Order: sequence, then structure tokens, then C-alpha cells
Amino acid sequence: MKRPAGIALALLVAGCDGVQSMTGGDGRQSQLFNGLFELYLWVTSVAYLLVIGFLLAAIVRRRGERQDQRPDPPGVSTERGLRGALAGWVGFILVGLLVLTVASYLADRSLARAAPDAGSKPFHITVTANQWWWDVEYSFVDKSQRIRTANELHLPLGEPAILHLQSNDVIHSFWVPNLAGKQDMIPGRAADLKIVPTHPGTYRAQCAEFCGQQHAHMALVVTVEPRADFDRWWAQQIQPAKPPTTALARAGHDLFMTRQCSGCHAINGEPAFGQVAPDLTHFASRPTIGAGTLPNAPGHLYAWVADPQGVKPGNRMPYIGFEPRELDAIVAYLRTLT
Ligand code: CUA
Repeated sequence: MKRPAGIALALLVAGCDGVQSMTGGDGRQSQLFNGLFELYLWVTSVAYLLVIGFLLAAIVRRRGERQDQRPDPPGVSTERGLRGALAGWVGFILVGLLVLTVASYLADRSLARAAPDAGSKPFHITVTANQWWWDVEYSFVDKSQRIRTANELHLPLGEPAILHLQSNDVIHSFWVPNLAGKQDMIPGRAADLKIVPTHPGTYRAQCAEFCGQQHAHMALVVTVEPRADFDRWWAQQIQPAKPPTTALARAGHDLFMTRQCSGCHAINGEPAFGQVAPDLTHFASRPTIGAGTLPNAPGHLYAWVADPQGVKPGNRMPYIGFEPRELDAIVAYLRTLT
């Protein structure tokens, strides 16, 4: 193989095994899809090769006839051979279609089953889509056990999670290609999606329905981790925000509570109760800013608070007009929200 072709193939194959990959097979649902995809690929490939084979045979035969000018009438054995081939072809189509139909049905039934592991209770998580971010709430019967986060999802390895999906504005679509299929999120309509993650790792979910200007910047980071790590994350997330200790961070805290920030964002344990923007209680522990728009680092955070419309045009966060020293303080405070 030529070098550029080899590189292209390597890139193509590498593209199939990333943090956002339809063929990743990192969840039970995605494995079912992969199995079905492979079966379809085999059956349709054989059908395709047979069609091409017959076509080539016909061309070769016709050429041969032209060369001797006087075509012989088909002999009995050729006639029989052709009939046999035709019967085989019809048989193959019937069996192939039957296999694909039954396999699709079985895969669909398996997807419909809750597939809970013995003894484990499924997690109930409410994911609400907004232009252009994800609100994530772990709901339990006991209200004191609820946690709320945004643009990230943590799932314990091997345990079924039931996602209750809804939308606050337009139609979005929830899609973690490594773990499961897509589910549309239609305003006013609830939809559930079951996920059973089978491989630990960090995956990228992406809104899969065009929902406006920042549709592409509507990502969600999904972390699948062993139960002990998940419990550690949980124990940290359920805590209220720590009060700031440095003078700069305290100044940022006061700005946050007295300027526009707390009107939209909530911080558990602080007088910030806004409900229209991401909950920021443990903002600093999240990997990204603006639903996957930027990595969560001080420089990016500064740019984001200074000019949200410059970073993610069209998003709902307004320009506040903070002075540079106020920005320093706000960033210092937000960085304490671990
Ligand atoms: Cu939300 Cu596209």
C-alpha cells in the first residue's frame, strides 16, 4: 500500500475508536448496534458481490458470443445451471432478509429490556436540554440526596442508568455514540433512555438535532468510572460550595452575589438561586466551559466572563462589563468552586 493511502486508512480506523465514536461499543446498547451493523454488513456485502459477479459473468459471456458471431442456442446443461443459480439467488435473498429481520427484532427487544444487573437499582437522572447547554440532576426519592450539575454526566461502571430526557426550548437530541443510540428531546414530551456502560472512560456526547446557532457547541462530557470513584465524586458534589478563603476570591464572591451572576446561576450554600443557567456549585471540578466550548482553565474562564458573546456568539449569557480587576476576582472565586 502507498504511504498516503496507508496514513489515510490509519486515520480512518483511528477515527472509529475515539471519545465520540459510533463503533466504540462502550455500552450494552452500543454493542447491540455494533453486532447488528456487522451482520448487515456481511449479508449485504455477499449480496453485492454476487450481483457484481453475475454482471461480470454476463459481460464475459456476451463478449464470447460476439467473437464467434453465431450464438449457439443454450444447451440443456447451461439452462439447468442458470435455473439453479436463479433458485440459489432467490433462496439467498429470502434467507438473508429473514436473518436481518429476526436479528433486528431481537436487538430491538434487547434494547427495550431494562437490562438491570442483579441487585443494582437503576440510577434516575434528569437531563434537560437548553440552548445550548445540558442541565443534569440526579433524582432520588430522598431530596437531600439530589445533586445538580451541568454539561457533565458521571455513571458508575456496569450499572444501568435511566435518563429522563426533556427540553426547555426547542428540539434537541441526546447522543453519547460510544454508549447508546440517539434520543430526541422534544419540548413538552418526556422520553427515557437506558444506558448500561460497560467500559470505563471519558466520552463526548453531542446534541444531534440542529437547535440553533450554537448547536455544535452543545456537548456533554460523560465519565464512566468504577463504583468507588463514582461514590467519591458523589460525596464531593453533594457538599455545598466551600466559602472562599483569599481576599481576591472573597471579593469575587461578593461581586457574584451582588451583580447579575446570581440572578441566573445557583450555588448551593450561597444566596445564588438563579435557575436559567448552569448550577455552578462545583463548577471548577468540571472539564469544560460553555458545554464543551473551551477547556476549563483560568485564561479561558477570564475570556468567557469578560465577553461570553465573543466566545460563544448567541448564547444566553449577557455581557456584564466587569472591570479587569473585577474579572480577576470573579475568576479567582469560580476557581474555588471545586
Ligand atoms: Cu441542542 Cu443541537
